[in-house]
Amino acid sequence: MTKFSATTPIYYVNAKPHLGHAYTTIVADAVSRWHRLLGEEVHLLTGTDEHGLKIQQAADAAGVSPKEFADSIAPLFAQAWDRLNITHDDFIRTTEPRHAAGVKKLLQACFDAGDIEVDMYRGQYCVACEAYFIEEELIEGMCPIHKKETTFVEEENYFFRLSRFEDRLLKWYEDHPNAITPSFRMNEVLGFIKGGLNDFSVSRKTLTWGIPLPWDPSHVAYVWFDALANYITAVGYGTDDKAFAENWPVDYHFIGKDIIRFHCVYWPAMLMSAGIEPPKGWAVGGWLLVDGEKMAKTAGNVVNPLDLIDVVGVDGFRYYVLAETTYGNDGDFSDEGLIKRFNSDLANNLGNLAARVATVVEKKCGGIGPASSANSPLAAIAATAVAETSQAWASVQPSKALEATWKLIGATNSYLEDNEPWKMEPGDAVNTVMGDALEALRIVTILANPALPTTTQEIWNRIGLTGNITDLRIHADTKWGQYTGGTTVVKGQPLFPRLTV
Ligand code: MSP
Repeated sequence: MTKFSATTPIYYVNAKPHLGHAYTTIVADAVSRWHRLLGEEVHLLTGTDEHGLKIQQAADAAGVSPKEFADSIAPLFAQAWDRLNITHDDFIRTTEPRHAAGVKKLLQACFDAGDIEVDMYRGQYCVACEAYFIEEELIEGMCPIHKKETTFVEEENYFFRLSRFEDRLLKWYEDHPNAITPSFRMNEVLGFIKGGLNDFSVSRKTLTWGIPLPWDPSHVAYVWFDALANYITAVGYGTDDKAFAENWPVDYHFIGKDIIRFHCVYWPAMLMSAGIEPPKGWAVGGWLLVDGEKMAKTAGNVVNPLDLIDVVGVDGFRYYVLAETTYGNDGDFSDEGLIKRFNSDLANNLGNLAARVATVVEKKCGGIGPASSANSPLAAIAATAVAETSQAWASVQPSKALEATWKLIGATNSYLEDNEPWKMEPGDAVNTVMGDALEALRIVTILANPALPTTTQEIWNRIGLTGNITDLRIHADTKWGQYTGGTTVVKGQPLFPRLTV
């Protein structure tokens, strides 16, 4: 069976999940759900990043130990993902023993390869980024990302000799030209590498909240080295060689553009050093901005995704983040935008189609859905929607995929408006129109299921079909002509009641 594996970043546990985290996770989930519908064996990994100075400081401020602090926040991520219907297969916490075992093995492998050496570090550190900066990167002495003051650090560190990997990384990307999506991000990565790579510190001596280096326990692993390793420790590196061999390399690391350098430069070099294959791909999302700023605790513009669910429902929220922004570009979040999209695409299009089909079937077909016809004008439109939707999900373009699916919804609504079955007398003509509309709706529910897992299943049930959409297969079950009719169609409560701005 074809396998498909994906990961989200592991989230820092210094604060609760916010909209930006939810966005990245929902994209990874929807793409994974699409691959499950293709019949592939999917593995989706998420988790939490719990070591490092940032967490240590947050715990200090709360007056508890870092582990107690992490234990209080990590479940909030797990709960948020359950609430958002995220179908992850594993949730790794970097404080778990399976992770420590793999991190130590990876460190030792890079050390044995001669790529980790001791040196003195002198320079600036941003705790919010957990990253080192050279003077030229600072803006007026501040971190360019968080616009916060950096700290001068001078200590003995072990360094990963990243500078030795320039040629190997360039060669690898040359051999894998489609590894990064969207492709413009590849140029950015090649630019970093060609600009010259600096060695990076992989240990801290003044911090205790981390994983000790196996050969020198007076140092703990730098949090990014530790965090990146989650992608392999979760699938058995250091604990289960067989599982690791079967599950690595991953198909996609879903990440935000802010962590591209760590993922597309440091990470493959670390793996190469240890003799492990780099990932097959990276999908790099933009930021969801609020008033033009990246959402962050420090900026005071954090949006809690769970509050939005109360307004538009889980599926309404999932749909919004997937449809509103072209994946890879930045998007602007606003309450008005959320409600506008909900009203136009869900209330007026999908919700309206489901409701009017049920109403007409009730009035003109005795409440029993008629079978679809073989030569409907909607058949070709449905086939195009299936092809375009498939193509877009395959290339990690959720907004394009939904647009393609919504074309079939739009065409079906127009078909009903052109034929006005509500004005017809009961009989063959009305049965044909309604059988075709039901068939189009059946196909739409399958295509839209990765974005709207609950409401599509609800529509499926209302049009008299049984079983779970998640057990269906994209190509076999989306071919025209499978709505055989003869079962009761029910209208039910509005799925997406219109909202006022
Ligand atoms: N712990 C690191 C990742 C380690 S992965 C080995 C980290 N954590 S984070 O919690 O700060 O953010 C993780 C990711 O959340 C970001 O890289 C990005 O993908 C996503 N987002 C955080 N804020 C975001 C927005 N405002 N918009 C979109 N995504 C953003 O970095």
